[in-house]
Formats: sequence, C-alpha cells, structure tokens
Amino acid sequence: MNNKIISKRFGKLTDPASVSEYRAMGGYTAIQQAILTEKEHILEEIDKAMLLGRGGASYPMGRKWHHLYENPRFPKYIVCNADEGEPGTFKDKALLSLDPHSVIEGMLIAGYLFSADEGFIYIRGEYRTIQETFQRALDDAEQNGYLGQDILGVKGFNYTITIVSGAGAYVCGENSAMLNSIEGLTGRPRVKPPHLADIGLHKQPTLVNNVESFANVPVVLNMGGEAYRALGTEKDGGTRLICLSGHIKNRGMFEIPLGMPLDEIIYGEEYGGGMASGKPLGFIHFGGQSGPIGFPEQLEGLIYSYEEMRARSLAIGSGALVVMDDSVSVVEYLESVMGFFIHESCGKCTPCRLGTTRLHELLGSFVKGRAGQEDLSRLENMLTHITNLSSCGLGQSVATSVRCAIRHRRNEFAALIGN
Ligand SMILES: Cc1cc2nc3c(=O)[nH]c(=O)nc-3n(C[C@H](O)[C@H](O)[C@H](O)COP(=O)(O)O)c2cc1C
Ligand code: SF4
Repeated sequence: MNNKIISKRFGKLTDPASVSEYRAMGGYTAIQQAILTEKEHILEEIDKAMLLGRGGASYPMGRKWHHLYENPRFPKYIVCNADEGEPGTFKDKALLSLDPHSVIEGMLIAGYLFSADEGFIYIRGEYRTIQETFQRALDDAEQNGYLGQDILGVKGFNYTITIVSGAGAYVCGENSAMLNSIEGLTGRPRVKPPHLADIGLHKQPTLVNNVESFANVPVVLNMGGEAYRALGTEKDGGTRLICLSGHIKNRGMFEIPLGMPLDEIIYGEEYGGGMASGKPLGFIHFGGQSGPIGFPEQLEGLIYSYEEMRARSLAIGSGALVVMDDSVSVVEYLESVMGFFIHESCGKCTPCRLGTTRLHELLGSFVKGRAGQEDLSRLENMLTHITNLSSCGLGQSVATSVRCAIRHRRNEFAALIGN
C-alpha cells in the first residue's frame, strides 16, 4: 500500500514555496471545492474523517471545529501551532519546509469556513530558514490570489496569514501560552476554561490546530471524509507522520496508516529496521518527553492507533517514538527527562517549578545508589502532587513517564536503593 498521503510531495518539488509546483501536484483544489459547497458540508467531512489533532492531545478536530463554528462572535482567529518543541518530534518541520502550501491551504479552508480575516502561524524560533521558505510561500500564495482580498473571486473572502516566531520556550507550544506570546505577553499558559473557541486570541473565538492537522484538511476534502477515515481505524482516521529516533536502525520521519502493528514500525525494513546495536528493545518513549513509556511485554501485538494505545495506558502524542535498547537504565533516562522539565517549566505554579527540581534530585539519588527505603513512596507521592496541583499540561505530564517506569520496572528502582 502506498502510505504517502500527506508526504506525497516531499522531495518532489524543486521549490516547495512555489504555488505553480504545488498546483501541478494537485494543490489548491480543495479550497476551490470548499468555496462551492455548503459550509456545513465541510464540517461533515471533517467529522466523518475521524481526524484527531496531531499536536499531542489527539482531540477530535470535528468537535473543535463545530465548537468554533457555532460561536456567533466575530472576529474569529485561526492559529497554526508550529512550535514543535517536543523532543524527538520533527515532522512539522518537514511539512513546513517541503510542502508549505499544504499547511497554507488547510489554514485557508479554515479561514473561509469560520469567516476569519486573520490567521497566524507560530513557528519555532530555531526554524529560521524554514520561516523564510514559509514566508516566500505566503508571498507567492498572495500573488496568485489565494491570500488577500476577495480570494478566488469570492466577495468578502479576505484573509491573511502572518508568521510569528517563537523564541525557544517549550511551554509556548501549549495553545494558550502561544496566544499570550502572539499577543506580546509573557508566554505562560492561561487558566482554562474558558475554551479558546470562546475566549482566545485578543479574547476572541480562536481555532488552534497543529501543522499536520491543518495539512490534512485539503486531503480530507479531496478524498472525502469516509475514504480518509478508512485509511486508519474506526476511531482514528487517516495516516500519521511518525518520528523514529534513539537506538533504532533507520532514524527519521515516516508516514504510516493508523492501525499499523507496532512491530512493523520498529522492525519492518521499510520503517525502523530493528535495533541499530542488535541488542533487544529496552523501552519506547511515545510522544516525546511528556508521553508514556512502553516496555516490551506491554507492546506485544500492539496496534499503533489512538484507541489501542489508550487501552494499554499508552498514547501516540506528537508521533515521536524514542526507542532505547536494553543497555539503557530507565531510571537514568528519567533523570535526564526531568532535567528537560526543570529547564522548561515556566515557573508560574510552585508544584511544577520546585517539584521538577525535587524529582530530578530524587531520581538522581536512585541513580547514585543513595536513595533510602522511603524514597520510592516519596517519589510516588511527589508525582501525585505535581500532577494534581499543576495548572497546565506541562506540569500535568511531568509524572507520566516516571509512573510508567515505576509500574513496570519497580524492581529496577528497588535495586538501586542503598543500605
Ligand atoms: C507544554 C506543551 C507543549 C505543547 N507543544 C505543542 C507543539 O509544539 N505543537 C503542537 O501542535 N501542540 C503542542 N501542544 C498541544 C497544544 O496545546 C494543542 O493541544 C494543539 O496545538 C492543538 O492542535 P491539534 O488539536 O491540531 O493537535 C503542547 C501542549 C503542551 C501542554
Ligand atoms: S504547570 Fe508548570 S509550565 Fe504549566 S503553568 Fe504551571 S509552572 Fe508553568
């Protein structure tokens, strides 16, 4: 099966910023179709596609779009989350640099559907040259009548897209922190509710979706929601861009149909190709640093889809799979994960700000063999407090990987307790 649906143009465009090249490979046909159909029909197709957001939380796109559509307040804003801060995740980078018009077309369809005049794309600051490519793509889209005034001859369809550069803070990928950053405020998460579809950018109804989520919109409209869903599973439609890294033989980005057996992803010659070292698999960290860790006995026969992963307390998250062979101590690995969270906590809530440091120290004491008999239960206690008392997704997910390791590798922690 040819799995290339949203990566089909990757590497095939001489200048990815060129509208004419994108059009020559089937681009800008979905927006042509969208302006000729009832808006409700667009929503129906997104519903049927069972497209779950690709940014990490797997929130159903149809549900989010309905919520915004039903809000009678205007203006509405469209925001594309291209912060891509989750370690081990590099798929949005590929879309932005190798097929930027697919993202622009997705944002354009959203602009038309929600009668928004302004769209923003918040691109990770480190992607400086990609920002330049994306700007050239936006300029070419405007010159060809896909952005600006009375787009495609539709009176009143006025829409612009502006790039906003991130500045290296992981927390600014959290949707409300990102809106604060776009507004020029400190990039710290807002208290939720309210939902961003009610009170978002400049306190107006706002749509925030990930790069890959937007790039899927033209695909869904072109092939029809039902056909798109059928590429994946019943509750998780389509394909996904996944990022393989760590001790795997073939590191990189791959497009796979949702519902593929995990074994094929890790060991299939077309995909991961197995462990580079030839050693057995130790564990896989799914969805970046904030996601769960899966151990071999949990992964047997696993199908890579939202519902199957969830049934085993795992998650797809951002699509990252950090694969470690059995030479790695999971406790040491977690100590370094915690170093990342200390650095990235925005400091607004005490349990997250101080808790990440305390967790790092405690994990370090296990690694050094200095942990005492009480420290495993102290560790579990701390995880509960940080999760329950942190106000945003960053603090709430700090404990995820540590909990998985304690549940499945308690003996490894216990073996490190000193006397
Ligand atoms: C700390 C943190 C960082 C995040 N970083 C990103 C990111 O870099 N890119 C992204 O699309 N979503 C990120 N998210 C998720 C967003 O808050 C939001 O759910 C997403 O952009 C919605 O788009 P989607 O529904 O299309 O997935 C992050 C969430 C948290 C809590
Ligand atoms: S949980 Fe952490 S990152 Fe989130 S707002 Fe609180 S301090 Fe900031």
